[in-house]
Amino acid sequence: MPGLAEPKELLLRLLDPAHRADPYPLYSEIRERGPIVIPEANFAVFGTYAQCDEIFRHPASGNDRLKSSVAQKAVAEGQPARPFGQPGFLFLDPPDHTRLRKLAQKAFAPRVVKALEPEIVALVDQLLANLKPDSEFDVIAGLAYPLPVAVICRLLGVPLSDEPKFSAASGLLAQGLDPFITFTGEVSDTFSDRLEAGHWLRGYLRDLVGQRRGDPREDLISELIAAEEDGDQLTEDEIVATCNLLLIAGHETTVNLIANAILAMLREPRHWAALAADADRASAIVEETLRFDPPVQLSSRVATAEMTIDGITIPAGDSMMVMMASAQRDPQMYDDPDTFDPDRGAIRHLAFGLGPHFCLGAPLARLEATIALSALTARFPNARLAGDPVYKPNVTLRGMATLPLTL
Ligand code: HEM
Repeated sequence: MPGLAEPKELLLRLLDPAHRADPYPLYSEIRERGPIVIPEANFAVFGTYAQCDEIFRHPASGNDRLKSSVAQKAVAEGQPARPFGQPGFLFLDPPDHTRLRKLAQKAFAPRVVKALEPEIVALVDQLLANLKPDSEFDVIAGLAYPLPVAVICRLLGVPLSDEPKFSAASGLLAQGLDPFITFTGEVSDTFSDRLEAGHWLRGYLRDLVGQRRGDPREDLISELIAAEEDGDQLTEDEIVATCNLLLIAGHETTVNLIANAILAMLREPRHWAALAADADRASAIVEETLRFDPPVQLSSRVATAEMTIDGITIPAGDSMMVMMASAQRDPQMYDDPDTFDPDRGAIRHLAFGLGPHFCLGAPLARLEATIALSALTARFPNARLAGDPVYKPNVTLRGMATLPLTL
């Protein structure tokens, strides 16, 4: 196709931080070109809604990275199978995935989450209490990050006072989800730092599990320990891996939802004013943000058997990149996809995934974002952007490091 970049160049551009503020033109190129298949590296990249939807629904789509032919080859060459230890259940397939998800699920059921509402409202009030109109405010440091972090720490039973210690580790580990090795065949510069952070965080959580064994509380760590002691349904490694997954998910996702919604509204200030005047609009804002600028931009699957996606044969063991952020700007699926339009009506999107791995935290993320956005707009109906946002380098869990406002 004339005018389109070479496939590999396109993928390298996707990793380039220069495109982080606006990767959407690259996604559009990926959709136009059709799936990018790199057989010699055993992977393919898919960017339309129909393709991503099909991969998520396909019974042969696996999540255990160890089943990929690239991982199998590395293990055969003597490399450790799982350098970061037991994976969280996001990266497991049934039956282990089903068993572990079921144990964590209770804590995130919509009814249980709804009961957290007064506490989340109080946390938001506390974060906004001392702010004055017309003052400068960094949305990330002041609201979008501390809110979900406080909530997940409270749910898990991780002392918030230890937060400075593990927020750096969580940030580094989030970068591990970037498709760096897949696209380049090499580990990134931060690999050894991530390995160290991973071991440190698991050690921290293992110590906490040890403490809770002797002194159970009303928290998820204690519930998981009780399940282990009751029926031997999970091992200590699995408890630690589950807590690790939830802690990182709680740190690195909802922050982006809140901040991306604020940025989108303030770029079209009538949306800000409309929400300030009518808190009921918050849910439509949240859903359109999840479509327009999703906190998790992509995911991947391993073909556990030969698959055919949109006419392309994927051999067993190959990996498939599922570009949700691209799928959600697919003009075949949405009218005027590059416009932020909370009034576009019922929005089907893939921002929380689909199928057996559908995001466990979705009700919690939606509740936190709804409360935070309606409270901030109501208190500061005339807020405006005070400069350009600065993005973190992350490709997958893409989000801002700072977002300055004048309130
Ligand atoms: C706006 C915020 C969030 C977004 C956009 C998001 C997105 C996603 C996505 C796309 C997946 C599926 C990944 C895949 O299938 O490959 C997922 C899974 C998951 N999410 Fe979230 N997430 C968010 C918040 C949270 C929160 C707050 C938690 C909990 C603290 C959480 C916990 C999980 C877990 C445990 C899974 C794995 C589910 C499974 O494998 O069965 N997420 N999330």
